[in-house]
Amino acid sequence: MQDVTAAPKFAPSVLAADFLKLGDEIRQAEAGGIDRFHVDIMDGLFVPNLSLGIPIVEAVRRAATVPVEVHLMIERPERYLGDFARAGSDWIIVHQEASVQLHRTVHAVRELERKVSVGLNPGTPVQTLEALIDDLDGVLIMTVDPGFGGQKFIESTLRKVRQARELVEARGLHCEIEVDGGVDAATAPRAVAAGATLLVAGTSVFRHADGPAGGVRHLHQCCAAARYVAGSQ
Ligand code: DX5
Ligand code: ZN
Repeated sequence: MQDVTAAPKFAPSVLAADFLKLGDEIRQAEAGGIDRFHVDIMDGLFVPNLSLGIPIVEAVRRAATVPVEVHLMIERPERYLGDFARAGSDWIIVHQEASVQLHRTVHAVRELERKVSVGLNPGTPVQTLEALIDDLDGVLIMTVDPGFGGQKFIESTLRKVRQARELVEARGLHCEIEVDGGVDAATAPRAVAAGATLLVAGTSVFRHADGPAGGVRHLHQCCAAARYVAGSQ
């Protein structure tokens, strides 16, 4: 079970970093106190954008001292699981909507001895994971439509965060509830109150006026009093 009293964890999304000084940005974000890095992989099909690929995952892996997770916003992610594992991904996120044989895909990640989460777009119900949740290390609730950094947090996704947390608690699972998109000083504490345990943040970390360390510290401060309370809204 997740420790409901634990402070939320943060995963800066390097999509918003300055790639001319990526190593420096990574060190600064780590100085703020983070759990892992989040690398967004987009194929121009599953989402209407192209973003990062395997060389960036390798570079982040070399520079980081914390784990690296890859968020595969690609069709049929099962084609590339081995490549991303070899590139240094500790944790692989595949989308429910992108993999028809999702059970097979999840267990293919397990065979690679990597942690596995499943992502849900804002329009995909949490109930679609009921059959598989016992096999997962995490659920990623998209709080924007995937494809771009810097978008506005979609309020209605908070209900899904709570549903995912309730499902995990009801089954007694140790499963991260992760949110991704539009996470900032205002929305982060609300996501934590709804049951999120891990928060992805790009713009609010790497574009923060005080730099990435300042951005992470600010998010920690904003969430200091936020706690999930079962049953409340
Ligand atoms: C969106 C990506 C997010 C994004 C987050 O498709 O999955 O990880 O980079 O960026 P912000 O925090 O700027 O919304
Ligand atoms: Zn992401």
